[in-house]
Amino acid sequence: MRDREELKKEVRALLKERDAIMLAHNYQRDEVQETADLTGDSLALSQAAADSPAKVIVFCGVHFMAESAAILSPQKTVIIPRMDAGCPMADMITPEDLIKEKEKRPGVPVVAYVNTSAAVKALSDICCTSANAVSVVNSLTEDRVYMIPDKNLSHYVSLTARKKMEWWGGFCPTHERLKVSEVLKAKEENPGAVFVCHPECNPEIVRLADHVCSTSGMYKFAKKTEAQTIIVGTEMGILYKLKKENPEKNFIIPSKALICPNMKLTTLDDVAESLKEMKNIVTVPDDIRAKAKAALDRMLKVPRDF
Ligand code: 13P
Ligand code: SF4
Repeated sequence: MRDREELKKEVRALLKERDAIMLAHNYQRDEVQETADLTGDSLALSQAAADSPAKVIVFCGVHFMAESAAILSPQKTVIIPRMDAGCPMADMITPEDLIKEKEKRPGVPVVAYVNTSAAVKALSDICCTSANAVSVVNSLTEDRVYMIPDKNLSHYVSLTARKKMEWWGGFCPTHERLKVSEVLKAKEENPGAVFVCHPECNPEIVRLADHVCSTSGMYKFAKKTEAQTIIVGTEMGILYKLKKENPEKNFIIPSKALICPNMKLTTLDDVAESLKEMKNIVTVPDDIRAKAKAALDRMLKVPRDF
């Protein structure tokens, strides 16, 4: 295995040489987060991809995230270091599925979680992330909304949104693995701890939470809460920055199963290789890109929930 410090320096030098910016999702491996120019949730990274003056974007995350960057910035070269880093939830709805659902509900706007393919976004009215989903749904003038693909995020939004909502039955296999018994055990073992979870967790878990938010929302919450111990219901890559920013606090991931295999595929070696060879470029056909961009642009005008 190559020396990690040396590799980090090599990646930084390659980024400079290629006029590239390295973005890393909050679930990425520590070494990837450590080397990136910016870490964040899906919303922050989409915004950074759209705003960055760099010619090349190296997107360390999963495919739909890099694809969103390519949709928003067609003039930039978007690289995903591992082409095989997909999101199983995004694969749970196809354009054909969505066309059928839309036919059943003429005139009902479709809100697509960014965890969808470009072709599905192109058939949707507006996108959302876990950081703005309630505001996005409430921003619509219609009374009814159809939300895709995550049944758990949709259920969570329906608790507070002022809309009649229906949704597709997709889910995140990683968050779905968190059990109520594991959260209750962590609470019992840590009296006085607060529990924060991602809205991709199922409703039984959400019901136990003191706060529900996106991954970046968790950093804000961790800084703000007076509790010394925080039980965190999301993928364990979140710990890297939580611990770094709050060395005096104690963070507990209640289940060993909270690990997204796709998010963990990317190593620094992959980043260096893709930059050296300028390979794994993500592109989206123009007709799909224009329609998907309209749904993403509409979302970017809506403020964050938290
Ligand atoms: P965030 O938008 O909160 O970063 O979540 C993305 C994701 O895929 C969570 O599983
Ligand atoms: Fe997809 Fe879940 Fe992994 Fe997020 S954690 S990328 S939703 S599989």
